[in-house]
Amino acid sequence: MKIAVLPGDGIGPEIVAQAVKVLDRLQADGLKIEMEYAPIGGAGYEAAGDPLPEATLKLSQAADAVLLGAVGDWKYDSLPRDQRPERGLLRIRKALNLFANLRPALLYPELASASTLKPEVVAGLDLMIVRELTGDIYFGQPRGIATLENGEREGINTMRYNESEIRRIGRVAFDIAMKRNKKVCSIDKANVLETTELWRQVMVELAKDYPEVELSHMYVDNAAMQLVRAPRQFDVMVTENMFGDILSDCAAMLTGSIGMLPSASLDANNKGMYEPSHGSAPDIAGKDVANPLATILSVAMMFKYSFNDAATFNRIDHAVKKVIAAGYRTADIWTEGTSKVSCSGMGDAVVAAL
Ligand code: IPM
Ligand code: MG
Repeated sequence: MKIAVLPGDGIGPEIVAQAVKVLDRLQADGLKIEMEYAPIGGAGYEAAGDPLPEATLKLSQAADAVLLGAVGDWKYDSLPRDQRPERGLLRIRKALNLFANLRPALLYPELASASTLKPEVVAGLDLMIVRELTGDIYFGQPRGIATLENGEREGINTMRYNESEIRRIGRVAFDIAMKRNKKVCSIDKANVLETTELWRQVMVELAKDYPEVELSHMYVDNAAMQLVRAPRQFDVMVTENMFGDILSDCAAMLTGSIGMLPSASLDANNKGMYEPSHGSAPDIAGKDVANPLATILSVAMMFKYSFNDAATFNRIDHAVKKVIAAGYRTADIWTEGTSKVSCSGMGDAVVAAL
């Protein structure tokens, strides 16, 4: 298993270091894992003047899977848009054709009190957000900031989806639902936006191939409200790129902290990039306080989705459950009566539990 390791910026390197400890441990136990590092984001800009250096892309293309930390730092905010860290992330998603982004939001029972919502609202939460990742307003042309004839500036982005893009992400969602509770809620804004009117039509057509799955539709504004009102009504939510970005942060907080939310971004052959759903948190970078569990759980997803190794997925998953049950907490999920650990302390605890 060849893994390209791209730590990125901010807390990226320290959380990835904990995930690598887990991989090292699995390797010591006999799994054949090769890891090679490359810079991305601000680190790519520093190393090669490009947030996605050619060598990083090549390495990632040649690898069986990619492990990514996070990208972005305020200090790059004044760079031209093409050189900013986020562009590196968007370009690698597009270049590897990682159109299916899976973001599971699962509440560990012991963390119910760490959520900002009432425990009875979030207890038993287990939902999967399936976010389209290579289309929509994130990539649509034309885009830019233009100057009009009267000298006024105008910002332009284009929301667009074609049928095949909608159908392939829809299939991913229905297939996942078949292995879960057989419910898909498709999120759109079909009352206003034609792109998502088409989205809804395609989902309805697709549902005919999945007679066992119950398909429902919800406008995105209502979905945001329902996520904080009664999140357990959802099993699989499928949505376009920008709505998925927003709703997945919202879902993350239900689990106690965005530091708990892993993700997998898959192409049509289940090659994937695995990264926590959270960002680079430059304000706490280098302080050894970040929560590495989202990254470690992303490694678990790597075994499940790219390496088809359910046993290793379970092993990592159980180790994380064990450390949480034992009361280890990073600052973001700490509550009275539990033991506060650092980022590296949490990594060590998971390795010990493995
Ligand atoms: C995410 C992030 C990215 C996104 C940013 C960093 C470009 O917010 O993965 O959710 O918007 O997709
Ligand atoms: Mg986001």
